[in-house]
Amino acid sequence: MPACIIVGTLWGDEGKGKMVDFLAGDADIIARFQGGSNAGHEVMVEGKLFTFHLVPSGVMCEGKICLIGNGVVVDPRTLIGEIEALEEKGFDASARVKISEGAHVVMPYHITLDLKLEELRADTALGNLGVTGRGIGPTYVDKVDRSGIRMGDLLCRQSLEEKLQAALKMKNFLLVNLLKDKPVDIDQILDEYLKCGEKLRPNIIDTSLFVNEALDHGQKVLMEGAQGTLLDLDYGTYPFVTSSNTISGNACVGLGVGPKRIDQVYGVVKAYATRVGGGPFPTEETGDLGDRLREQGDEYGRTTGRPRRCGWLDAVALRRSVRLNGISGLMITNLDVLTGFDPVRICTVYDLDGDRVNEFPNNLTDLSKCKPVYESHPGWDQPITDARRMEDLPSQARDYLGRISELTGCPIAIVSVGQDRSQTIQLQSLWD
Ligand code: IMP
Repeated sequence: MPACIIVGTLWGDEGKGKMVDFLAGDADIIARFQGGSNAGHEVMVEGKLFTFHLVPSGVMCEGKICLIGNGVVVDPRTLIGEIEALEEKGFDASARVKISEGAHVVMPYHITLDLKLEELRADTALGNLGVTGRGIGPTYVDKVDRSGIRMGDLLCRQSLEEKLQAALKMKNFLLVNLLKDKPVDIDQILDEYLKCGEKLRPNIIDTSLFVNEALDHGQKVLMEGAQGTLLDLDYGTYPFVTSSNTISGNACVGLGVGPKRIDQVYGVVKAYATRVGGGPFPTEETGDLGDRLREQGDEYGRTTGRPRRCGWLDAVALRRSVRLNGISGLMITNLDVLTGFDPVRICTVYDLDGDRVNEFPNNLTDLSKCKPVYESHPGWDQPITDARRMEDLPSQARDYLGRISELTGCPIAIVSVGQDRSQTIQLQSLWD
């Protein structure tokens, strides 16, 4: 009954898509457990790049079942668009994608609210969160507020109509009286979303039952997180976080499986660090070095196109992530991007008002005062994109990886040296 979780360790965009695609070949089911179309997971197969926002990244692997769990918030229009685009390219996605009947639906008014509220935040002391504008926060708010619409509701006119009427009573009050916007007319939504439900009817199931039965039959389930640990609603750099729990513990809630069923947790981390949107980022490089990392790593958001903030790897943050997720192995991505940087640096501790700090502070005031203390390592010049074994890497790159492992107390399971599936060095089998 092996179940394995893959999470992002810092602020997301670590390359989970590539890792999940690479490992999907050995799995039976690939299951997303949180987030929504704020994610932008990239998979390159035979020189062709695919970006997914909702469909699990294992969809490029023939025959694999791809689940969207109850913890995900689903914009059905985006999902249908992704499935249709895959079908056009010859992938039988509609037969393999299954969606939880309990996953909450992102409605057009959630997107309006997301953008409006972000506008209002701009002139507060905290400023923008830098949301992706995909309606994620307002959809999770409605889930907690018990006024959300779930995928199962799209299958029944009466149920959808009643729930929409109740939801719109509250939303329109907010939109008209507080945000001075237009009210939403139920007729603008009802038929379109019923049509989405009709299209997705064969795909909407009890995903928790499906996963548990698969595990009972000895199938392998790869649980795919979205965003990263430092964007976790509870443990991230609150309030500069996303609206779901991104850490491994939430895989159980977001898929409906018990914690005893999880065997392994892997953390994906870039060989340097990036962040998109607002909030503290202790190792950020705002000058030429940050620009060079951005250009060499093509660090632009796949959902919004925004330039990502770039900097050195932060072992203090990574240690916290290893602890919060119970990570048993690291998957280090984008090592090739560091070719030509000399030295390469890692932040090992922070300096907070003259004191050495080993632990990532929980409060933003302290965190924003933390200065990274770096260790420098010799870089390498030779291209490494053809390396397929550790021995193929220059000794400086191997030493750098060894130091990351030492600083986090965590073994390295995989090293990625390029975007393609084949550009991967596997050191450890995932399911052992
Ligand atoms: P939201 O998830 O759209 O509400 O955005 C909240 C914060 O999370 C913003 O700073 C976003 O830039 C960030 N964020 C959301 N999804 C991702 C992602 O997939 N990668 C990186 N950052 C993300």
